[in-house]
Formats: sequence, C-alpha cells, structure tokens
Amino acid sequence: MKVEKVLEKNVAKKNSVQILEKAGKILKDGGLVAFPTETVYGLGADALNADAARKIYEAKGRPSDNPLIVHVAEFEAVKKIVKSIPWQATVLAEKFWPGPLTMIMEKSDAVPFETSGGLDTVAVRMPAHKVALELIRAGGGYIAAPSANTSGRPSPTKAGHVADDLDGKIDMLIDGGEVGIGLESTIVDLTSSKPVILRPGAITAQMMFEVLGCEVSLDEALIKTDSTVRPKAPGMKYKHYAPKAEITVVEGKDRQSVVNYINEQVEKMLQQFYLDETDKKGNVLDDLFWLDVLEGRIGILCSEENRSKYHYGFVKSVGHFENEEEIARNLYSVLREFDETSVEYIFSESFNTPNMGYAIMNRLLKAAGHHRVQL
Ligand code: TXA
Ligand code: MG
Repeated sequence: MKVEKVLEKNVAKKNSVQILEKAGKILKDGGLVAFPTETVYGLGADALNADAARKIYEAKGRPSDNPLIVHVAEFEAVKKIVKSIPWQATVLAEKFWPGPLTMIMEKSDAVPFETSGGLDTVAVRMPAHKVALELIRAGGGYIAAPSANTSGRPSPTKAGHVADDLDGKIDMLIDGGEVGIGLESTIVDLTSSKPVILRPGAITAQMMFEVLGCEVSLDEALIKTDSTVRPKAPGMKYKHYAPKAEITVVEGKDRQSVVNYINEQVEKMLQQFYLDETDKKGNVLDDLFWLDVLEGRIGILCSEENRSKYHYGFVKSVGHFENEEEIARNLYSVLREFDETSVEYIFSESFNTPNMGYAIMNRLLKAAGHHRVQL
C-alpha cells in the first residue's frame, strides 16, 4: 500500500494535484483508496462499479448486506443516482453540504446492488474536506466509502489507524492529517414523508428541524437499545466500535458522584485481583509491585477536568467536558489506545454534552455493548 500525504491547505499545489490524479486513476480502474474526510477516514471505490464495491467488503471484512455511502462533490451529481430528489434533500443540502450529513433516497439503476447492500435505496453525502472533494472529482464523481477500519473496530480518525487495519489490503492511503469531527456523519432517511435519523452525528435533529420546519424523528432502534427493534441502517445492528476491554459507562446526576463511584469500584476490583493473585502464588505478595501490575488491568476513560481525581488504574482523558468537539474528535483514538494496553476492564464517564453529546453517547454505549450503570 502506497501512503501519500496531501493536506487540505496544500490541495492546489502541483505535487498534491499529481497525487490526487494518480489516486483518481486507481479508483477509475476499480482499485481502493483510503482518504480523509471531515468526519472519519473513508475507504473509497468507484460506487458505480460493482466489482470495485465488492472489494471494499473484502478489505474490511464487512457483511455484504451493509450498504455503502456514495460520496459526491456536487449536488448536481445526486440526480443520476436517485429516482427523484425529495424537497427535504434540496433544503438540507443547501444548508449542510458539504458537511457531515448523509441522506437516504430511492436509488436509480445507476447504483449497483453491491453498493446499496441489496437495498432499493442509496445513502449520499458530500464531505466538507478539500482532499476528499478533489479525490471524488478525480475518481469519476461517485465514490463509495465506508469508514476505513476493519469491521468491528473504531472508525479511523488518523492515517495511522487506517494503516493499522488495512495495510496490504488496499492500493493507496492518502494521509491528510487528523480529521476534524471524529464521529461519522448523521444519517437521515428521506424515503418517507417524515425524515428519520438512523445514526446521530454532528448535524442534530434540532438543526434539521430549524431549516425544514417539520419534525425530524429518531429511528426507534436508537431509543430502544435492547435489540428488540431492528435498526433501519443495517450497519447499526452490528457490534461496532468494540474495543478489546469490557466497558462500563457510568452515568450520574452530578459528575463528582460518578468519580466517587468509579474510584470505589476500581479499589474493590484491585483488592479482588490481589487476593486472586495471592491465592495463585500461595504466598504474600509485595504490595507495591503488585499494585503496579494489577492497576494495568483497569482503564478509566474520563474528561480532562476529572483526570487528577482518579487514584488507580490506567487513566485516559478524551478532552475537556466543556469542549464537546474535542471529546468527539478524540473518542475513537482513545478507544484504540486502550486496545494497545493490557487493560481488561474500562470504566467510562458519560458525556451528555449539549449538541454532540447524543452522538458521542451513541458510540460510547455501543462500544460498551450498552453496559451502563445509572447512579
Ligand atoms: O462520516 C461518514 O459517514 C463516513 C465517512 C467516510 O464519510 N462513512 C461511514 O460509512 O461512516 P460506514 O459505511 O461506516 O457507515 C454507513 C452506515 C452504515 O450503518 C450503513 O448500514 C448505513 O450507513 N447505510 C448506508 N446506506 C444505507 C441505506 N440505503 N439505508 C440505510 N442505511 C444505510
Ligand atoms: Mg463504519
């Protein structure tokens, strides 16, 4: 796999133009190119070429019934791939494109079923990233791109994450630096009269309501998370974003009670680990040495403001509670960092922040398999 660096600020420079032309040619020839977007890195292929789309599923180890998002660089381009453009799509695109919003519409015959995962609908998005937009143009205008991770791992927010997962399986990786948002786009279904959010993201129901003037509802499966309701976005049914460790998300009325609870639990667990080890070894252990070793089995995922309040365990901050963009941007990266440690159990604070909080908690609770404690 060839790695090429193209930053947004250099996209018009000769060297970058040449790299993007080369990448575009790979796509036109049916190859795979991973590239940055403002949300997460995507794994691109020609969306109108069934064989190319099939390669995406293979590289990611993705179930074939999980449809891909088609990325376009112009609103005009949508016409060719849908039966008709609903009025809501025109209004939403006007306001939020390019940007982190994916819209589902009835597909036209131009979109192969390999791209739409066998469905009669297609997901379309115009990313707000200059490198992505230029690549889409160079690649023929229609680029299918799921997140560029191995299925089941957190989405990549840095080129290094893509390389960790897909090296040897794709033709090129364009390194555009760290992404801006860090969580995948909002998905809204426009195939019935009322828009329905299938996956929460940076564009919220309230933001869409404000421009559409009509109610935007949530897919029932987002509310009923006990798997009795089947999500409308096939991808949302899989246990995504799953780190190696078991996560417990702790929610409380005030943030100090969450810290206290986690500290208590961690101390209890350490005591238990210590007793188990003593049993195994059959003699009394050197307390300090063992504390050091056993601490490494427990992780704490917290806000920067609370970081110093935890006494034991492997503590990682996702950013300041007051800065929800920072938390969204760091979440997947921190989950991946935990994967590289010996941590077996993670206690996580909850991040019900004003706008992005719903999307952040959606991903975090998924990573936790909805294992949560409400104080
Ligand atoms: O931000 C993003 O959307 C990123 C970047 C690369 O653009 N892409 C992304 O793609 O997150 P992916 O494949 O990881 O997630 C796409 C989600 C899946 O849950 C899939 O099931 C759903 O979109 N989806 C795609 N087409 C659909 C359709 N026609 N109907 C319902 N859900 C659809
Ligand atoms: Mg994905």
